[in-house]
Amino acid sequence: MADLAATLICPSSALVDGGDGVRFATPRGEAFVVRYRSQVRAYLNLCRHRPMPLDMNDSRFFSLDGHHLVCSTHGAHFRADNGLCVLGPCPGQKLEPVAVIERDGSVWLVAD
Ligand code: FES
Repeated sequence: MADLAATLICPSSALVDGGDGVRFATPRGEAFVVRYRSQVRAYLNLCRHRPMPLDMNDSRFFSLDGHHLVCSTHGAHFRADNGLCVLGPCPGQKLEPVAVIERDGSVWLVAD
């Protein structure tokens, strides 16, 4: 980790595939990280329909089937792997990705 500017977000064990996320602060605003199909994915916690957080302050981002990230305000569905809105009021728009890495049993925010 000495060669890379990174900030600890959480232990890897905090992220279950398709389960609750972890919210964290970035210089660009609040973000969240989830695990989907074994990979960690992070986005700014900001819907592309209106400037609202996706969750209701409870770190629950996934649809019931665990395949889409859902905005709690009007129900937009975003692909978990790339943030693309596939259902709801902002189709074709994407969540803003945040660079994170998983290494040595932890998830890290990589400096922009
Ligand atoms: S604010 Fe997210 S769908 Fe409207």
